[in-house]
Amino acid sequence: MIDHDIIVIGGGLAGLRAAIEAYQLGADVAIISKVYPIRSHSGAAQGGINASLGFDDSWEAHAFDTVKGSDYLADQDTVDVLCKEASERVIEMENWGCNFSRQENGKIAQRPFGGAGFPRTCFAGDRTGHNLLHTLYEQVLKCNIKIYSEWLVTKLVIDKGRCAGCIAMNMADSKLGAFRSKAIILATGGYGRIYQRSTNAMINRGFGISLAYMAGVALEDMEFVQFHPTTLLGTNILITEGARGEGGYLFNKDHERFMSNYAKDSMELAPRDIVARSIQKEIDEGRGFPGGYVHVDLTHLGKDVINERLPGIRQISIDFAGIDPVKEPIPVQPGQHYSMGGVSSDINGRTPMPGLYAVGECACISVHGANRLGGNSLLDTVVFGRRAGIDAVDYIKLIQKADGDKLIEAFRQEEGRLQGMFGGEGGNFASIRDELQQIMQEHVGIFRNRKGLEHALDEIRKLKKRAAKLRVQSKVKVFNFELINALELQGMLELGHIITIGALAREESRGAHYRTDYLERDDGHWLKHTLAYKDVEPRLEYKEVNIGRFTPQRREY
Ligand code: FUM
Repeated sequence: MIDHDIIVIGGGLAGLRAAIEAYQLGADVAIISKVYPIRSHSGAAQGGINASLGFDDSWEAHAFDTVKGSDYLADQDTVDVLCKEASERVIEMENWGCNFSRQENGKIAQRPFGGAGFPRTCFAGDRTGHNLLHTLYEQVLKCNIKIYSEWLVTKLVIDKGRCAGCIAMNMADSKLGAFRSKAIILATGGYGRIYQRSTNAMINRGFGISLAYMAGVALEDMEFVQFHPTTLLGTNILITEGARGEGGYLFNKDHERFMSNYAKDSMELAPRDIVARSIQKEIDEGRGFPGGYVHVDLTHLGKDVINERLPGIRQISIDFAGIDPVKEPIPVQPGQHYSMGGVSSDINGRTPMPGLYAVGECACISVHGANRLGGNSLLDTVVFGRRAGIDAVDYIKLIQKADGDKLIEAFRQEEGRLQGMFGGEGGNFASIRDELQQIMQEHVGIFRNRKGLEHALDEIRKLKKRAAKLRVQSKVKVFNFELINALELQGMLELGHIITIGALAREESRGAHYRTDYLERDDGHWLKHTLAYKDVEPRLEYKEVNIGRFTPQRREY
């Protein structure tokens, strides 16, 4: 048995930030990560991190933009925390060595981003996530925090109603380990790869979210899935909102700046849900280019601006589409980008399960409501990662470690479960996963309706039956990706099921959840959070939204 006070699962920004805080407060903390931490998906974040640094900006203005952007579903007490603590966290990252881009006067540069009333997105060129991740990783190394890299957690262990550890598999030899701890902080990121077109890394399969769900913890607002407006045609690699923030235009095939028909004041800098829907509508109604895309045009910005502010997307466009944005527009289409929903957690990352915390994209705290603003996810990781670290250290002082019997029992059960997945005939994980991705893309995407959602639900139920019979053929012990994929597929199917059932139930359009059969937001019936619990079919309950000083209004841009 491996013992630590606190185990952080996930080596991205939220996990690293939580671990640093817990370590600094004296806890014995370790990180378990499916990949080497600097390969985490946080490193793919491009455009920036929001903070009201300017004299003429304020955290209240940031909070208003966030709440309005969320279509009034965000809990306003948590939004206040996010926006109040933003400047301190960004300056802390600067002090730790993050090389932000600069203004002439040497202060951190900020750019306009969608849905924001002020240019408050701090950035490091268009590699902000990468730079933040390396900065935090350096701090983790300095603290000498133990990292179990390339271990996959397969189960959370619950003992006497609290989280007492986890079982994880060392991917290098497929051996299981039993990890005992007083608290676990989940920071495992999103589930983008249950969709066919996603900006997410291949590792983003939502396994942490599904672990919590399997352990009986509620998932919140899972029907709210963000589609980024501009992903590169072909690979769906992110083309940052910063491209439009720096002045890029969107054009349809008739060279029309079509956003004037959808958001005449904000144009290309309307929030993501609106821009993504507008692009998709242009494509669906035949005004996109053949193959289903529009153009984001940066050519008027000139080579110097592009090289200084957007070097990453220039290189990505050249390498993956053969297009140099200095000379030609970039072909883009919407793609899944972010999960607003996740493990239900509070302002300190506490889930309803004592000893279990969730932060970052795997959590629903809920600061993003029905639609997240660009630049708020990196912020969310460092604000709530730190808060969870502090709270977990307070929590572990009050409790004793579990005796370990439950952990050993869970270890044996997991050994048996994994053994049982080998041999025999049972189909192929890849075909089930591909079908799931296609169903989610087609029927649980940007535009949804009853017929499509019911069809998706039927298909997912069938896929779950097939997956239950899945057997792994490869007997390889070293990095057996067939086994890893098969294990994660179970969770992906659960999440697809929960998203679809929540989307079917929610008979309104709000933020990223857009029902073509219920076009309006319906605050009378639906100004509430969805909670999904594990049962034969996911069981839905609802809870109130925390409304503060911003009374819900019609959302126009
Ligand atoms: O467009 C982007 O750079 C993405 C930013 C975000 O998701 O916050």
